[in-house]
Amino acid sequence: SRSINLAVIPGDGIGQEVVAQGLKVLNAALPQDVKLETKEYDLGAQRWHRTGETLPDAELEALKNHDAILLGAIGDPSVPSGVLERGLLLKLRFAFDHFINLRPSKLFPNTESPLAGNPDIDFVVVREGTEGPYTGNGGSLRTGTPAEVATEVSLNTAYGVERVVRDAFERADSRPRKKLTLVHKTNVLVYAGHLWKNTFDKVAEEYPDVTTDYLHVDAATIFLVTDPGRFDVIVTDNLFGDILTDLAAAVSGGIGLAASGNVNPTGDFPSMFEPVHGSAPDIAGQGKADPTATVLSVALLLRHLGYEDRAVRIEDAVSADLAERDGTPRTTDEIGDALAVRVAG
Ligand code: IPM
Ligand code: MN
Repeated sequence: SRSINLAVIPGDGIGQEVVAQGLKVLNAALPQDVKLETKEYDLGAQRWHRTGETLPDAELEALKNHDAILLGAIGDPSVPSGVLERGLLLKLRFAFDHFINLRPSKLFPNTESPLAGNPDIDFVVVREGTEGPYTGNGGSLRTGTPAEVATEVSLNTAYGVERVVRDAFERADSRPRKKLTLVHKTNVLVYAGHLWKNTFDKVAEEYPDVTTDYLHVDAATIFLVTDPGRFDVIVTDNLFGDILTDLAAAVSGGIGLAASGNVNPTGDFPSMFEPVHGSAPDIAGQGKADPTATVLSVALLLRHLGYEDRAVRIEDAVSADLAERDGTPRTTDEIGDALAVRVAG
């Protein structure tokens, strides 16, 4: 019989609460004959306070043996900024070579988007996940003095750019509209821009059915708000993708609905699925967090593992649940229950 061996990293703040609901819905969605095994990893702020560790080698090794990872949220105001981001979240993305950071945006019914009612929002951002300014390639001179100099180098390799661009073309080619937009800033970032644009144009020759488009990142932010329907698949670098996907979340129903997958399509390492939102310490532990982004991340996880029909079932359940929301407050647990019932039914 089939099985899924899942690693679970609830993490910090609302991470614990939303992951519990994600697992609830995952259990409800799985076919009877699929055995789900989960192993929870105690990583995040509390672990760091207790032991000073963010992601020890032994746990990194252990995580490799799973089919996938479900992560809640990382980060707490009691931990210096960057410690957990770099030492845990980015370390996982880099160690497991998650070069595709997949962030779909779809306008669900009855949501608080400033663009609500616009039926056209259905695009996916393919954000590069292992390079750009995220590699920690930089330094500081005369730190803390009036003469301080800081550099933060964006790393772009032909290998890294080509593999994410190819993946994005594949995705665009498999969607009805077959359109791919490259977002960069080639008018200023000329070296990286050249590599991205050249690679994009070269790979495009292999995908004659895909319509291509290029936008500078600043212009892309305008169109995401004024004409989101022009986008189908967007491919972009790590930092531009980080920024664009928060904006995309805001225009397509809010950060409470934004799902993501840190994917290694080669299968050499487990892919990791997480809501785009953070740990929201201000509302943690109160049952106020909306678990929907985590539930939608579970759908991406199932799709990645080959359970397309189950992923669709979860997405349909979320659509139906949102359509019936009337503003009556519900707890994290109640939303999870409602989604699990719909998915199972
Ligand atoms: C995200 C987050 C992370 C990122 C941070 C927490 C390191 O903002 O997943 O979008 O910048 O990638
Ligand atoms: Mn972000």
